[in-house]
Amino acid sequence: MKFETIIEPFRIKAVEPIRMTTREQRQNALEKAGYNLFLLPAEDVLIDLLTDSGTGAMSSAQWAGMMRGDESYAGARSFYEFKNAVQQITGLEHVIPTHQGRAAERILFGSLLSPGDIVPNNTHFDTTRANVEYRGATALDIPIAEGRKPALIHPFKGNIDLEELEKLLVQQREHIPLVMITVTNNSGGGQPVSMANIRAASEICHRYDVPLFLDACRFAENAWFIKLREEGYEHKTPLEIAQEMFSYVDGCTMSAKKDGLANIGGFLALNDDALAQKCKTNLILTEGFPTYGGLAGYDLEAIAVGLHEVVEEDYLRYRIRSVAYLGDKLTQAGIPIVQPPGGHAIYIDALTMLPHIPQSEYPAWSLSLALYLEGGIRSVEIGSVMFGLQTDGSEKPAAMELVRLAFPRRVYTQSHVDYLAEVLLYVNHIKDRIRGVHIVEALPVLRHFSARLEPVNGILCAS
Ligand code: F0G
Repeated sequence: MKFETIIEPFRIKAVEPIRMTTREQRQNALEKAGYNLFLLPAEDVLIDLLTDSGTGAMSSAQWAGMMRGDESYAGARSFYEFKNAVQQITGLEHVIPTHQGRAAERILFGSLLSPGDIVPNNTHFDTTRANVEYRGATALDIPIAEGRKPALIHPFKGNIDLEELEKLLVQQREHIPLVMITVTNNSGGGQPVSMANIRAASEICHRYDVPLFLDACRFAENAWFIKLREEGYEHKTPLEIAQEMFSYVDGCTMSAKKDGLANIGGFLALNDDALAQKCKTNLILTEGFPTYGGLAGYDLEAIAVGLHEVVEEDYLRYRIRSVAYLGDKLTQAGIPIVQPPGGHAIYIDALTMLPHIPQSEYPAWSLSLALYLEGGIRSVEIGSVMFGLQTDGSEKPAAMELVRLAFPRRVYTQSHVDYLAEVLLYVNHIKDRIRGVHIVEALPVLRHFSARLEPVNGILCAS
């Protein structure tokens, strides 16, 4: 290609205004929200990077698909469109729609796990872990050692530890009804898993006759990293790479709110006939009939089109580059981030950036508040407010204090990213002024969603 600028591969047909606010307005908004970004009205946020889940923009083809939605209770045409799209990518036999990813998890684990079981995974996402534990089973994270070192550069930090996996299967085969691999590894920094790793994990699992499932939320982003970084894949299309990834597994859970490019939806897909039957029975209890599974016909259409669009090269090139573009600017400015940048998000290492705030005063939470106060940016803390409270009521600092900036798909442009970088560089410049916070009131479970906090000295960051 003669030109190097990677442009947004779309033009904009409908726009949604975002509202500028003053620092004073944001200070007031923070006070009203109890210094908890989850409790802010979205209208008061300028750039919302809380999550990349369900927050993307749909294409004109997806909106057109929604008008074609067939709302028949059973056997809707939209279901077959959906099923064909899923099967073209995954090749899996049974396709079960669900209202989002965690419903697929609940149905799969509800049909497969018993108390005392163990589920190995590179790293479980929170809802996956919660659904495993709800069945009385243990969610065991076994990423490669490199995956636990934020500053270390490695092409496939999302890989599962194959030696550890085999050891577990040798010692505890009877307690392991399935193994999972999360692509990309969200909780581990949005890092990809290599084809070689998926292939080898599949070979090990099948030697012990254990099914391997993908948590496939960001399968297309993972496929793009394989194309960029793994030998032998540079000339393959993202679709061919995704098809090969799925060819090694026996099933998958999926949140279509990520690489389905939809605002809601998900699915469970698998080959085992008996297990699929059990899952469908489970599905009817809470989600709906197996040809709609908690979704409207128009949602099924939007996902079917989204699954075709998400593997387009121009889209993936722009997607991965826009995250890396921010990562490069932060790295050049010496802001510590999880390296290399992930597929859907940048993770700032707040413990390294704000050494003057002890973990007991929640440095990552404080940093996320400062980004909002100074620039109207909403991010999410992945640190001790989220993970610090133990089931016995005691407090234990989290392993890392991260601030995640997750990019909604096809929503923001390069100038938004330039603005983000400018705010982050400014906050880095005044970081010594940022103070810690303490919790004023909180629930005993999932406290980060509703807790109220306060700056330790009354002022978060002097202007
Ligand atoms: N698995 C992974 C790897 C995820 O990142 C998520 C959601 C889920 C499963 C659950 O899917 O939300 O459709 O029920 N992650 C979002 C996030 C919420 O912000 O990272 P869901």
